Amino acid sequence: MALEKYISEHKDRFLEELFDLLRIPSISADSAFASDVRKAAEYIQEKLIAAGADNVSLEETAGYPIVYGEKIFDASLPTVLVYGHYDVQPSDPNDLWDTPPFEPTVRDGNIYARGACDDKGQMYMHLKAFESMMATGTLSCNVKFMLEGEEEVGSVNLGKFVIDNKEKLKADVILISDTSMLANDLPSINVGLRGLSYVEVEVTGPNRDLHSGVYGGAVANPINILCDMISSLHDENNHITIPEFYQDVLELSTEDRAALGQIPFDQNDYNGKLDIDDVHGEKGFSTIERTGIRPSLDVNGIWGGYIGEGAKTVLASKAYAKISMRLVPNQTSENITKIFKAHFEKIAPASVKVKVTPHHGGEAAVTPTDSIAYRAASMAMEETFGKQPIPTRGGGSIPIVALFEKELGLKTVLFGFGLDSDAIHSPNEKYGLFNYYKGIETIPLFFKHYTALSK
Ligand code: BES
Ligand code: MN
Ligand code: MN
Repeated sequence: MALEKYISEHKDRFLEELFDLLRIPSISADSAFASDVRKAAEYIQEKLIAAGADNVSLEETAGYPIVYGEKIFDASLPTVLVYGHYDVQPSDPNDLWDTPPFEPTVRDGNIYARGACDDKGQMYMHLKAFESMMATGTLSCNVKFMLEGEEEVGSVNLGKFVIDNKEKLKADVILISDTSMLANDLPSINVGLRGLSYVEVEVTGPNRDLHSGVYGGAVANPINILCDMISSLHDENNHITIPEFYQDVLELSTEDRAALGQIPFDQNDYNGKLDIDDVHGEKGFSTIERTGIRPSLDVNGIWGGYIGEGAKTVLASKAYAKISMRLVPNQTSENITKIFKAHFEKIAPASVKVKVTPHHGGEAAVTPTDSIAYRAASMAMEETFGKQPIPTRGGGSIPIVALFEKELGLKTVLFGFGLDSDAIHSPNEKYGLFNYYKGIETIPLFFKHYTALSK
């Protein structure tokens, strides 16, 4: 049977199976969901076997298992290593969801659920594309799957697995669908991801919470001080003020910047979708540049003091914040974390103590556009979208892309089918039915072109 026919005949089941996966609340950050994360791994294992993969196993790590599977036809053919993640971000604030996060629902052509786009929906496209190729005898090269359950918590155990299993993971290219396109009628391929340095800071003032009248005005209030310290991290041009922060930043060539400027982008439309009257960012750079090629620093959470009902007059002993820094090529998360810590400790007034605790980090990555794998991806998308995809830079981070390059010597193709408006990590995350099926239809064409170009 022809591939397209197989896909169209099994369309409804492909969606039902994704729904079953989306019903499993595999939140890796919250240990209360540990058994669900494992359940998601087992579900994928079962489906990978059913699709026709060999040597399917749950590879145990110090955390959640990695689902591995492969189909090796012929060692002389190229091998594509597909990576994806079955864990999801926490769903809170739950009351902002129009339908419950783990009860997938279709509305206006979109699947609403936590993980619909990031990354269960995009990962599952690969399983169904693989099943379809297997069932129709059209898989033209070798394929390996490595699907992890700790991406959203920094892939802490994946590095060891990769280093310990270099032979098993031997491949020619890595294929990942975990990024977005410009629009459904503007296909694009991500060729850059930002790195990440994530830290938590704690500011301690007096040794106990104090009466804000008895002591207010005379003793440092850690919340006030933390706010001052945080706001001092940007200057009036929205440059980050940490000394040497930009030291390693790779400046783009005039041609590369001009190419970014060619990417279709409507600032008014962007603002409208976010309900903002204006954007806010580093002076001298466009929105696309601010997220694509420039580093950034943001508070992700800040707390301390009294936040209950009514008013409690208290001057808190401690204040906290979680701060992320998005990095660009050449910056390293280790160095940025180090200089952030030194700077933050230095700017603290003598009236408080400061503690900086690093969380996970990861390096930026740039993927080539002159490889046969990129060309295969581009040709595949051109065939199904009727338009050649535009190379773009994404602002998010997938730290394992740099890790794969370092440890396995492999380049990645970021074959994402999501949209920035899919609200990943937010309430009402969604994924278009159009995008899900388009991915299932396009992935086999990548394999076809990649095998042909490899000859
Ligand atoms: N899939 C995202 C990353 C992404 C989204 C890249 C859209 C480009 C476009 C991934 O699951 C993610 O959320 N990564 C985290 C980093 C991780 C270390 C927690 C991120 O970017 O915050
Ligand atoms: Mn993801
Ligand atoms: Mn994510």
